[in-house]
Amino acid sequence: MIVRTPPMGWNSWNTFGPNINEELIKTTADAMVENGLLEAGYNYLVIDDCWAELKRDENHRLVPSKEKFPNGMKAVADYVHSKGLKFGMYSCSGTMTCAGYPSSFQYEFIDAATFAEWGVDFLKYDYCFKPASVNGDLLYKRMGMALANCGRDILFSACSWGADGTHEWIKTTGAHMWRSTGDINDSWQSIKDLYEKQIKLQPYNGKGCFNDMDMLVVGMNGKGNVGLKGCTTEEYRTHFSIWAFFNSPLMIGCDVRNMTPETKAILTNKEIIALNQDGAQRQPFKICDYWGNTAWCKQLEGGDLAVAILNLQEHDITPFFIFADMGLDRSCAVRLEMTDLWTGETLGVFRDQFKAKQPLKAHDCLMLRCRIVNE
Ligand code: GLA
Repeated sequence: MIVRTPPMGWNSWNTFGPNINEELIKTTADAMVENGLLEAGYNYLVIDDCWAELKRDENHRLVPSKEKFPNGMKAVADYVHSKGLKFGMYSCSGTMTCAGYPSSFQYEFIDAATFAEWGVDFLKYDYCFKPASVNGDLLYKRMGMALANCGRDILFSACSWGADGTHEWIKTTGAHMWRSTGDINDSWQSIKDLYEKQIKLQPYNGKGCFNDMDMLVVGMNGKGNVGLKGCTTEEYRTHFSIWAFFNSPLMIGCDVRNMTPETKAILTNKEIIALNQDGAQRQPFKICDYWGNTAWCKQLEGGDLAVAILNLQEHDITPFFIFADMGLDRSCAVRLEMTDLWTGETLGVFRDQFKAKQPLKAHDCLMLRCRIVNE
C-alpha cells in the first residue's frame, strides 16, 4: 500500500472518548457524507480506544464490546463502506491500551488477521504500557509485518508520540503516518505547543510516511473528551492552516453531526486542503520572523508557492515579508500574483515584498497562494 498524500478522516477520541457505539458511528458516517466531508477528501472513519470487551475469546481474538457494538465490527464496517467511506480501528503495542483495554502485544498476527476479516482499512497503533524489556521499534516493525501479510490493505497509523526517537526508526516499520508529538487538547496553548515541537521534526516528514500532528480540535468549542477551554474561530482557522501547510494528516475530532457553519467552512476549505494534498509534498521553510510576522513558504506542484503568515502574538500585526527571504531577489526579475485562500480574494501582483492592507488579528493567519509571473 502506497499512501501519496496525508490521510484525511474523522476519529472518535477527541469528542467521544469512551462513549462510542454503533449508533454514533453510523450517524457519523451519514453526516460525513451529508455535510460534504467525504467529498472534501475525509474518507477514513476511525474508532479509537474503548471499543473492546476486557477479555479475548477462547481463540485469543479481540471481542467488540457487546453493549457498544452488539452486531460486531463487521456490521459496522459494512455500513461505513456502504457510505463510500473507509473504516479504521485502534489498538496498542503494549500490554494494555491507554484506557486499559486488551492490546496487541504478542497478539499482533492474530489481531491483524481479525481486523482484516472485519474489513478494517486503517489501524491506529498506540504506545501505552510497552514492556521496558522490548524496544518500541521492534513492536512497530512486528505489527507492520503482520499488517502487510494479513491479506488486506490496512493503513498503519503509528502513535508513539515521538517517544524513544521515533523519527529515527519509524520509516523501518511500514507505518504510513506517525504521531510526532504528544496529545492535543482543545486550547490555543496546545495548538501552539504542537506547532513549535513539530518544526524540528519536519525534515522527517515525507510521502508515504507522514508526520501526524494529532487529530484536529476545530469545531470542538470546548466540548467533549479533550474539550478544555475551546478556541476562537481565528484560532481554529490558524490550527487547520498549520496542520494543512505542514503536510500533517487531517483527522477531524469534533462531532460532525452538529457542526456550526464556521466549523464546516474551515474543514472544507478546498484551497487549504489542496495545500495539504499537494502532489509534491515539499517541506515548508520559514521565510522570516520579523516583528511578530512568522511567515512560512512551501513550493507546490506546478510551480506556485504557498505562504502562511501566522500571528502567534497577543496583538494585531501587519502581515509582511520580503521575497528575497524566500530566495526570489531582484535578479530573478519576477513578481508574485497573490490570492488570499481564506477569503478567495485576488490581492494583486507584488514586486520585492508583500505588505497587507488589513491588520491580522492576534492568533489569526493569512494564507496565500502565489503565482510567479515574469516582470
Ligand atoms: C493516547 C493517544 C490518543 C488516544 C488515547 C486513547 O493518549 O495518543 O490519541 O488514542 O491514547 O486512550
